[in-house]
Amino acid sequence: MRLSVIGCGYLGAVHAASMAQLGHDVIGIDVDEYKVESLRAGRAPFYEPGLPELLTEVGATGRLTFSTDIADAAGADVHFICVGTPQVHGEFRADLRYVNSAVEALLPHLRSGDVVAGKSTVPVGTAEAIAEAIEATGAVLVWNPEFLREGFAVEDTLHPDRLVYGLPTDDDGEPTADGSKARSVLDEVYATPLSEDIPLVVTDYATAQLVKVAANSFLATKISFINAMAELCESTGADVTRLADAIGYDARIGRRFLNAGLGFGGGCLPKDIRAFMARAGELGVSDALSFLREVDSINMRRRVRMVDLAREVCHGSIVGRRVAVLGASFKPDSDDVRDSPALSVAAQLQLQGAHVTVTDPQAIANARAKWPDLHFAETALEAARDADVVLLATEWAEYREIDPDDLASVVAHRRILDGRNVLQPARWRAAGWTYRALGRP
Ligand code: UDX
Repeated sequence: MRLSVIGCGYLGAVHAASMAQLGHDVIGIDVDEYKVESLRAGRAPFYEPGLPELLTEVGATGRLTFSTDIADAAGADVHFICVGTPQVHGEFRADLRYVNSAVEALLPHLRSGDVVAGKSTVPVGTAEAIAEAIEATGAVLVWNPEFLREGFAVEDTLHPDRLVYGLPTDDDGEPTADGSKARSVLDEVYATPLSEDIPLVVTDYATAQLVKVAANSFLATKISFINAMAELCESTGADVTRLADAIGYDARIGRRFLNAGLGFGGGCLPKDIRAFMARAGELGVSDALSFLREVDSINMRRRVRMVDLAREVCHGSIVGRRVAVLGASFKPDSDDVRDSPALSVAAQLQLQGAHVTVTDPQAIANARAKWPDLHFAETALEAARDADVVLLATEWAEYREIDPDDLASVVAHRRILDGRNVLQPARWRAAGWTYRALGRP
Protein backbone atom coordinates (compact mmCIF):
# COMPACT_ATOMS: atom_id res chain seq x y z
CA MET A 1 0.00 0.00 0.00
CA ARG A 2 1.01 3.64 -0.35
CA LEU A 3 1.38 5.33 3.01
CA SER A 4 2.38 8.77 4.18
CA VAL A 5 3.74 9.43 7.65
CA ILE A 6 3.49 13.05 8.79
CA GLY A 7 6.02 13.92 11.48
CA CYS A 8 9.34 12.04 11.58
CA GLY A 9 10.34 12.19 15.26
CA TYR A 10 10.80 9.12 17.50
CA LEU A 11 7.32 7.91 16.59
CA GLY A 12 7.09 8.85 12.92
CA ALA A 13 10.61 7.90 11.77
CA VAL A 14 10.30 4.46 13.34
CA HIS A 15 6.74 4.01 12.06
CA ALA A 16 7.72 5.00 8.51
CA ALA A 17 10.70 2.65 8.42
CA SER A 18 8.72 -0.20 10.00
CA MET A 19 5.83 0.17 7.54
CA ALA A 20 8.33 0.04 4.65
CA GLN A 21 9.79 -3.08 6.21
CA LEU A 22 6.30 -4.62 6.14
CA GLY A 23 6.35 -4.10 2.35
CA HIS A 24 4.50 -0.78 1.95
CA ASP A 25 5.60 2.24 -0.09
CA VAL A 26 6.13 4.98 2.45
CA ILE A 27 6.76 8.71 2.24
CA GLY A 28 7.82 10.36 5.49
CA ILE A 29 7.09 14.09 5.76
CA ASP A 30 8.66 16.52 8.22
CA VAL A 31 9.09 20.30 8.28
CA ASP A 32 12.59 19.89 9.76
CA GLU A 33 15.06 19.82 6.86
CA TYR A 34 17.86 18.41 9.00
CA LYS A 35 15.73 15.44 10.00
CA VAL A 36 14.60 14.79 6.44
CA GLU A 37 18.15 15.10 5.10
CA SER A 38 19.58 12.63 7.59
CA LEU A 39 16.72 10.14 7.14
CA ARG A 40 17.17 10.38 3.36
CA ALA A 41 20.83 9.54 3.86
CA GLY A 42 19.77 6.51 5.91
CA ARG A 43 20.90 8.07 9.20
CA ALA A 44 18.67 8.14 12.26
CA PRO A 45 18.43 11.73 13.60
CA PHE A 46 18.38 10.34 17.18
CA TYR A 47 19.70 7.26 18.97
CA GLU A 48 17.34 4.31 18.73
CA PRO A 49 18.73 0.77 18.71
CA GLY A 50 17.88 -1.11 15.50
CA LEU A 51 16.74 1.98 13.58
CA PRO A 52 19.97 2.58 11.61
CA GLU A 53 19.96 -1.06 10.46
CA LEU A 54 16.29 -0.86 9.54
CA LEU A 55 16.84 2.38 7.58
CA THR A 56 19.68 0.75 5.66
CA GLU A 57 17.64 -2.38 5.00
CA VAL A 58 14.52 -0.62 3.72
CA GLY A 59 16.53 2.17 2.08
CA ALA A 60 17.92 -0.42 -0.32
CA THR A 61 14.41 -1.46 -1.41
CA GLY A 62 13.48 2.07 -2.55
CA ARG A 63 10.20 1.76 -0.63
CA LEU A 64 11.03 4.54 1.85
CA THR A 65 11.39 8.19 0.86
CA PHE A 66 11.31 11.45 2.81
CA SER A 67 10.24 14.98 1.96
CA THR A 68 9.64 18.38 3.53
CA ASP A 69 6.76 19.01 1.13
CA ILE A 70 3.36 17.81 2.35
CA ALA A 71 2.15 17.77 -1.29
CA ASP A 72 4.25 14.60 -1.66
CA ALA A 73 1.78 12.87 0.67
CA ALA A 74 -0.89 13.15 -2.04
CA GLY A 75 -1.93 9.81 -3.47
CA ALA A 76 -1.22 7.75 -0.36
CA ASP A 77 -4.00 5.38 0.77
CA VAL A 78 -3.34 6.05 4.44
CA HIS A 79 -1.88 9.18 6.06
CA PHE A 80 -0.46 8.61 9.55
CA ILE A 81 -0.35 11.67 11.81
CA CYS A 82 2.74 11.21 14.00
CA VAL A 83 3.57 14.76 15.14
CA GLY A 84 4.40 15.66 18.75
CA THR A 85 2.00 17.00 21.39
CA PRO A 86 4.29 18.65 23.96
CA GLN A 87 3.13 20.31 27.17
CA VAL A 88 2.09 23.95 26.80
CA HIS A 89 4.66 26.14 28.56
CA GLY A 90 3.42 27.07 32.03
CA GLU A 91 0.30 24.88 31.78
CA PHE A 92 -0.59 21.21 32.07
CA ARG A 93 -2.51 20.84 28.80
CA ALA A 94 -1.14 19.45 25.56
CA ASP A 95 -0.06 21.78 22.77
CA LEU A 96 -2.02 20.72 19.68
CA ARG A 97 -0.50 23.20 17.28
CA TYR A 98 1.53 20.56 15.40
CA VAL A 99 -1.46 18.24 15.06
CA ASN A 100 -3.65 21.07 13.83
CA SER A 101 -1.13 22.36 11.33
CA ALA A 102 -0.46 18.82 10.02
CA VAL A 103 -4.19 18.30 9.41
CA GLU A 104 -4.57 21.72 7.81
CA ALA A 105 -1.61 21.15 5.50
CA LEU A 106 -2.87 17.70 4.55
CA LEU A 107 -6.42 18.83 3.82
CA PRO A 108 -5.94 19.97 0.18
CA HIS A 109 -4.28 16.63 -0.67
CA LEU A 110 -6.96 14.29 0.69
CA ARG A 111 -9.16 12.29 -1.68
CA SER A 112 -12.47 10.61 -1.00
CA GLY A 113 -11.82 7.18 0.52
CA ASP A 114 -8.38 8.06 1.89
CA VAL A 115 -7.78 7.02 5.47
CA VAL A 116 -6.22 9.43 7.96
CA ALA A 117 -4.81 7.49 10.93
CA GLY A 118 -4.08 9.50 14.07
CA LYS A 119 -1.18 8.15 16.13
CA SER A 120 -0.13 11.20 18.17
CA THR A 121 -1.07 11.18 21.87
CA VAL A 122 -3.93 13.68 22.12
CA PRO A 123 -6.52 14.86 24.62
CA VAL A 124 -9.79 12.99 24.17
CA GLY A 125 -12.01 14.99 21.81
CA THR A 126 -9.23 15.84 19.36
CA ALA A 127 -10.08 12.98 16.98
CA GLU A 128 -13.70 14.10 16.79
CA ALA A 129 -12.55 17.62 15.79
CA ILE A 130 -10.16 16.25 13.15
CA ALA A 131 -12.88 13.98 11.73
CA GLU A 132 -15.08 17.03 11.32
CA ALA A 133 -12.28 19.03 9.71
CA ILE A 134 -11.63 16.40 7.04
CA GLU A 135 -15.25 15.33 6.51
CA ALA A 136 -15.83 17.42 3.37
CA THR A 137 -12.93 15.68 1.57
CA GLY A 138 -14.55 12.25 1.92
CA ALA A 139 -11.48 10.94 3.77
CA VAL A 140 -12.13 8.90 6.93
CA LEU A 141 -10.34 9.24 10.26
CA VAL A 142 -9.25 6.26 12.34
CA TRP A 143 -7.64 6.76 15.77
CA ASN A 144 -4.78 4.31 15.97
CA PRO A 145 -2.66 5.08 19.07
CA GLU A 146 0.97 4.05 19.32
CA PHE A 147 2.52 2.53 22.44
CA LEU A 148 6.17 2.33 21.49
CA ARG A 149 8.86 2.65 24.13
CA GLU A 150 12.06 4.48 23.26
CA GLY A 151 14.90 1.99 23.14
CA PHE A 152 12.49 -0.71 21.87
CA ALA A 153 10.68 1.40 19.30
CA VAL A 154 11.32 -0.84 16.28
CA GLU A 155 10.36 -4.02 18.12
CA ASP A 156 7.26 -2.35 19.61
CA THR A 157 6.14 -1.09 16.19
CA LEU A 158 6.63 -4.36 14.33
CA HIS A 159 5.40 -6.58 17.19
CA PRO A 160 3.11 -4.45 19.36
CA ASP A 161 1.30 -5.83 22.44
CA ARG A 162 -1.95 -4.81 20.77
CA LEU A 163 -3.39 -2.72 17.96
CA VAL A 164 -6.23 -0.30 18.64
CA TYR A 165 -8.56 1.20 16.01
CA GLY A 166 -10.95 3.96 17.01
CA LEU A 167 -13.56 4.11 14.24
CA PRO A 168 -16.40 6.53 13.47
CA THR A 169 -19.55 5.05 15.02
CA ASP A 170 -23.31 5.51 14.60
CA ASP A 171 -25.85 6.21 17.32
CA ASP A 172 -25.79 2.55 18.40
CA GLY A 173 -22.01 2.68 18.84
CA GLU A 174 -21.47 0.46 15.78
CA PRO A 175 -18.87 1.40 13.14
CA THR A 176 -20.37 3.39 10.26
CA ALA A 177 -20.06 2.05 6.70
CA ASP A 178 -17.06 4.37 6.14
CA GLY A 179 -15.61 3.21 9.43
CA SER A 180 -15.83 -0.44 8.39
CA LYS A 181 -14.14 0.35 5.07
CA ALA A 182 -11.36 2.21 6.87
CA ARG A 183 -10.94 -0.76 9.18
CA SER A 184 -10.34 -3.07 6.19
CA VAL A 185 -7.72 -0.65 4.88
CA LEU A 186 -5.86 -0.66 8.21
CA ASP A 187 -6.18 -4.45 8.41
CA GLU A 188 -4.28 -4.55 5.12
CA VAL A 189 -1.61 -2.15 6.42
CA TYR A 190 -1.13 -4.31 9.53
CA ALA A 191 -1.66 -7.69 7.79
CA THR A 192 1.70 -9.02 9.01
CA PRO A 193 1.34 -8.22 12.74
CA LEU A 194 -2.33 -9.31 12.62
CA SER A 195 -1.25 -12.66 11.13
CA GLU A 196 0.96 -13.09 14.23
CA ASP A 197 -2.19 -13.06 16.38
CA ILE A 198 -1.47 -9.66 17.87
CA PRO A 199 -4.70 -8.66 19.66
CA LEU A 200 -6.82 -6.02 17.91
CA VAL A 201 -9.23 -3.83 19.84
CA VAL A 202 -11.80 -2.13 17.60
CA THR A 203 -13.67 0.68 19.32
CA ASP A 204 -14.87 4.28 19.04
CA TYR A 205 -12.82 7.48 18.86
CA ALA A 206 -13.14 8.43 22.53
CA THR A 207 -12.07 5.03 23.84
CA ALA A 208 -9.13 4.79 21.43
CA GLN A 209 -7.82 8.18 22.52
CA LEU A 210 -8.28 7.33 26.19
CA VAL A 211 -6.51 3.96 25.88
CA LYS A 212 -3.16 5.66 25.35
CA VAL A 213 -3.32 8.11 28.23
CA ALA A 214 -4.90 5.52 30.51
CA ALA A 215 -2.03 3.10 29.79
CA ASN A 216 0.61 5.76 30.45
CA SER A 217 -1.17 6.91 33.61
CA PHE A 218 -1.26 3.34 34.89
CA LEU A 219 2.46 2.88 34.24
CA ALA A 220 3.28 6.19 35.93
CA THR A 221 1.10 5.21 38.89
CA LYS A 222 2.85 1.86 39.20
CA ILE A 223 6.26 3.55 39.30
CA SER A 224 5.11 6.17 41.82
CA PHE A 225 3.48 3.47 43.94
CA ILE A 226 6.78 1.68 44.38
CA ASN A 227 8.58 4.98 44.92
CA ALA A 228 6.09 5.83 47.68
CA MET A 229 6.92 2.42 49.20
CA ALA A 230 10.60 3.44 48.91
CA GLU A 231 9.85 6.44 51.13
CA LEU A 232 8.32 4.06 53.69
CA CYS A 233 11.32 1.75 53.37
CA GLU A 234 13.69 4.65 53.99
CA SER A 235 11.98 5.49 57.25
CA THR A 236 11.79 1.89 58.46
CA GLY A 237 15.05 0.36 57.27
CA ALA A 238 13.25 -1.93 54.81
CA ASP A 239 14.48 -2.79 51.31
CA VAL A 240 12.20 -1.67 48.46
CA THR A 241 13.82 -4.00 45.92
CA ARG A 242 12.98 -7.08 48.00
CA LEU A 243 9.52 -5.65 48.65
CA ALA A 244 9.00 -5.25 44.89
CA ASP A 245 10.24 -8.80 44.27
CA ALA A 246 7.85 -10.17 46.85
CA ILE A 247 4.73 -8.30 45.75
CA GLY A 248 5.69 -8.77 42.09
CA TYR A 249 5.37 -12.55 42.40
CA ASP A 250 1.63 -11.98 42.66
CA ALA A 251 0.65 -12.25 38.99
CA ARG A 252 -2.09 -9.68 39.58
CA ILE A 253 0.60 -7.15 40.50
CA GLY A 254 3.57 -8.25 38.36
CA ARG A 255 7.21 -7.23 38.81
CA ARG A 256 7.58 -5.05 35.69
CA PHE A 257 7.57 -1.26 36.21
CA LEU A 258 8.13 -1.74 39.95
CA ASN A 259 11.71 -0.51 39.92
CA ALA A 260 12.08 2.17 42.56
CA GLY A 261 14.64 4.91 42.12
CA LEU A 262 14.78 8.33 40.51
CA GLY A 263 11.37 7.82 38.91
CA PHE A 264 9.97 8.48 35.49
CA GLY A 265 10.86 11.12 32.94
CA GLY A 266 10.98 11.38 29.17
CA GLY A 267 8.82 12.91 26.49
CA CYS A 268 5.69 10.91 27.34
CA LEU A 269 4.80 9.86 30.88
CA PRO A 270 5.21 13.23 32.66
CA LYS A 271 3.46 15.36 30.05
CA ASP A 272 0.79 12.76 29.32
CA ILE A 273 -0.42 12.50 32.92
CA ARG A 274 -0.49 16.30 33.16
CA ALA A 275 -2.38 16.72 29.88
CA PHE A 276 -4.82 14.03 31.06
CA MET A 277 -5.47 15.96 34.29
CA ALA A 278 -5.97 19.17 32.31
CA ARG A 279 -8.44 17.47 29.99
CA ALA A 280 -10.33 15.92 32.91
CA GLY A 281 -10.66 19.45 34.34
CA GLU A 282 -12.10 20.74 31.05
CA LEU A 283 -14.56 17.85 31.06
CA GLY A 284 -15.65 18.65 34.63
CA VAL A 285 -14.31 15.39 36.09
CA SER A 286 -11.03 16.55 37.61
CA ASP A 287 -11.73 14.54 40.81
CA ALA A 288 -11.40 11.32 38.80
CA LEU A 289 -7.74 12.07 38.14
CA SER A 290 -6.75 13.96 41.27
CA PHE A 291 -4.62 10.92 42.24
CA LEU A 292 -2.35 11.73 39.27
CA ARG A 293 -1.26 14.91 41.06
CA GLU A 294 0.06 12.69 43.82
CA VAL A 295 1.70 10.39 41.27
CA ASP A 296 3.47 13.43 39.81
CA SER A 297 4.50 14.76 43.26
CA ILE A 298 5.89 11.42 44.46
CA ASN A 299 7.88 11.23 41.24
CA MET A 300 9.36 14.72 41.58
CA ARG A 301 10.15 14.17 45.30
CA ARG A 302 12.58 11.38 44.39
CA ARG A 303 14.81 13.91 42.64
CA VAL A 304 14.85 16.16 45.71
CA ARG A 305 15.58 13.17 47.94
CA MET A 306 18.55 12.20 45.78
CA VAL A 307 20.08 15.66 46.16
CA ASP A 308 19.55 15.36 49.94
CA LEU A 309 21.19 11.95 49.93
CA ALA A 310 24.24 13.40 48.16
CA ARG A 311 24.41 16.08 50.85
CA GLU A 312 24.09 13.45 53.57
CA VAL A 313 27.00 11.33 52.34
CA CYS A 314 29.11 14.51 52.02
CA HIS A 315 28.54 15.21 55.73
CA GLY A 316 25.97 17.99 55.34
CA SER A 317 27.25 20.11 52.44
CA ILE A 318 27.77 19.65 48.71
CA VAL A 319 29.22 23.11 48.19
CA GLY A 320 32.50 22.71 46.34
CA ARG A 321 32.19 18.90 46.29
CA ARG A 322 32.94 17.03 43.10
CA VAL A 323 30.01 14.88 41.96
CA ALA A 324 30.15 12.44 39.06
CA VAL A 325 26.76 11.68 37.51
CA LEU A 326 26.59 8.50 35.44
CA GLY A 327 23.78 8.92 32.92
CA ALA A 328 21.99 11.91 31.41
CA SER A 329 19.24 10.33 29.30
CA PHE A 330 15.83 9.72 30.91
CA LYS A 331 16.40 5.97 30.57
CA PRO A 332 19.02 3.63 29.11
CA ASP A 333 19.25 2.96 25.36
CA SER A 334 18.03 6.44 24.54
CA ASP A 335 19.67 9.83 23.91
CA ASP A 336 16.48 11.61 24.95
CA VAL A 337 16.98 14.06 27.82
CA ARG A 338 13.45 15.48 27.91
CA ASP A 339 12.45 15.72 31.59
CA SER A 340 15.32 13.42 32.46
CA PRO A 341 15.52 12.67 36.21
CA ALA A 342 19.30 12.17 35.83
CA LEU A 343 19.89 15.57 34.28
CA SER A 344 17.46 17.27 36.61
CA VAL A 345 19.39 15.97 39.66
CA ALA A 346 22.75 16.83 38.05
CA ALA A 347 21.58 20.40 37.43
CA GLN A 348 20.18 20.74 40.97
CA LEU A 349 23.46 19.57 42.49
CA GLN A 350 25.35 22.08 40.36
CA LEU A 351 22.93 24.90 41.24
CA GLN A 352 23.45 24.10 44.92
CA GLY A 353 27.20 24.55 44.66
CA ALA A 354 28.63 21.16 43.68
CA HIS A 355 31.05 20.68 40.77
CA VAL A 356 29.17 18.22 38.61
CA THR A 357 30.58 16.12 35.79
CA VAL A 358 28.05 14.17 33.76
CA THR A 359 28.71 11.27 31.43
CA ASP A 360 26.42 9.27 29.16
CA PRO A 361 27.06 6.79 26.34
CA GLN A 362 24.73 8.63 23.91
CA ALA A 363 23.14 11.73 25.39
CA ILE A 364 26.04 14.13 26.04
CA ALA A 365 25.27 16.36 23.03
CA ASN A 366 21.59 16.69 23.98
CA ALA A 367 22.44 17.19 27.65
CA ARG A 368 25.01 19.86 26.88
CA ALA A 369 22.51 21.73 24.70
CA LYS A 370 20.09 21.80 27.63
CA TRP A 371 22.54 22.47 30.49
CA PRO A 372 25.69 24.02 28.97
CA ASP A 373 27.02 24.93 32.42
CA LEU A 374 27.47 21.32 33.48
CA HIS A 375 30.79 19.59 32.83
CA PHE A 376 30.80 16.54 30.61
CA ALA A 377 33.14 13.59 30.26
CA GLU A 378 33.20 10.79 27.69
CA THR A 379 33.57 7.88 30.11
CA ALA A 380 32.52 6.95 33.63
CA LEU A 381 36.14 6.74 34.81
CA GLU A 382 36.90 10.18 33.40
CA ALA A 383 33.78 11.66 35.01
CA ALA A 384 34.62 10.06 38.36
CA ARG A 385 38.21 11.31 38.52
CA ASP A 386 38.73 12.87 41.99
CA ALA A 387 35.00 12.68 42.70
CA ASP A 388 33.77 13.04 46.28
CA VAL A 389 30.63 11.11 45.34
CA VAL A 390 29.46 9.12 42.31
CA LEU A 391 25.76 8.98 41.39
CA LEU A 392 24.41 6.28 39.09
CA ALA A 393 21.40 8.09 37.61
CA THR A 394 20.54 6.15 34.42
CA GLU A 395 20.99 2.39 34.41
CA TRP A 396 22.94 1.91 31.16
CA ALA A 397 24.36 -1.63 31.04
CA GLU A 398 27.93 -0.33 31.20
CA TYR A 399 27.20 1.46 34.50
CA ARG A 400 25.43 -1.53 36.02
CA GLU A 401 28.48 -3.62 35.27
CA ILE A 402 31.07 -1.13 36.45
CA ASP A 403 33.77 -2.66 38.66
CA PRO A 404 33.93 -1.09 42.16
CA ASP A 405 37.74 -1.52 42.26
CA ASP A 406 38.23 0.18 38.89
CA LEU A 407 36.11 3.12 40.00
CA ALA A 408 37.86 3.20 43.39
CA SER A 409 41.19 3.76 41.65
CA VAL A 410 40.09 7.18 40.30
CA VAL A 411 37.78 8.72 42.93
CA ALA A 412 38.75 10.89 45.88
CA HIS A 413 36.18 9.26 48.17
CA ARG A 414 34.44 5.92 47.80
CA ARG A 415 30.83 7.05 47.99
CA ILE A 416 28.29 5.66 45.55
CA LEU A 417 24.63 6.63 45.22
CA ASP A 418 22.58 4.08 43.33
CA GLY A 419 19.74 6.13 41.84
CA ARG A 420 18.24 3.13 40.05
CA ASN A 421 18.75 0.29 42.56
CA VAL A 422 20.74 -1.78 40.10
CA LEU A 423 24.04 -2.32 41.93
CA GLN A 424 24.81 -5.04 44.46
CA PRO A 425 25.29 -3.23 47.77
CA ALA A 426 27.34 -6.08 49.33
CA ARG A 427 29.84 -6.04 46.47
CA TRP A 428 30.37 -2.28 46.70
CA ARG A 429 30.61 -2.29 50.48
CA ALA A 430 33.11 -5.14 50.35
CA ALA A 431 35.25 -2.97 48.05
CA GLY A 432 35.29 -0.23 50.68
CA TRP A 433 32.50 1.96 49.34
CA THR A 434 29.77 3.81 51.21
CA TYR A 435 26.73 2.61 49.28
CA ARG A 436 23.41 4.51 49.49
CA ALA A 437 20.25 4.12 47.45
CA LEU A 438 16.64 5.27 47.38
CA GLY A 439 14.51 2.90 49.45
CA ARG A 440 17.29 0.59 50.59
CA PRO A 441 18.97 0.41 53.97
C1 UDX B 1 6.37 5.24 27.64
C2 UDX B 1 5.44 4.02 27.58
O1 UDX B 1 6.07 2.90 28.17
C3 UDX B 1 5.07 3.73 26.13
O2 UDX B 1 4.18 2.64 26.06
C4 UDX B 1 4.44 4.97 25.54
O3 UDX B 1 4.11 4.77 24.19
C5 UDX B 1 5.38 6.16 25.66
O4 UDX B 1 5.76 6.35 27.02
P1 UDX B 1 8.98 5.64 27.23
O5 UDX B 1 8.74 7.09 27.52
O6 UDX B 1 9.84 5.27 26.08
O7 UDX B 1 7.59 4.89 26.99
O8 UDX B 1 9.64 5.04 28.54
P2 UDX B 1 9.34 3.89 29.61
O9 UDX B 1 10.12 2.69 29.28
O10 UDX B 1 7.90 3.73 29.83
O11 UDX B 1 10.01 4.54 30.90
C6 UDX B 1 9.51 5.79 31.40
C7 UDX B 1 10.29 6.25 32.58
O12 UDX B 1 9.97 5.46 33.71
C8 UDX B 1 11.81 6.18 32.46
O13 UDX B 1 12.35 7.39 32.98
C9 UDX B 1 12.20 5.01 33.31
O14 UDX B 1 13.49 5.14 33.85
C10 UDX B 1 11.15 5.05 34.40
N1 UDX B 1 10.88 3.75 35.06
C11 UDX B 1 10.41 2.70 34.32
C12 UDX B 1 11.08 3.62 36.42
O15 UDX B 1 11.48 4.57 37.10
N2 UDX B 1 10.80 2.42 37.01
C13 UDX B 1 10.34 1.36 36.31
O16 UDX B 1 10.12 0.29 36.92
C14 UDX B 1 10.14 1.49 34.92
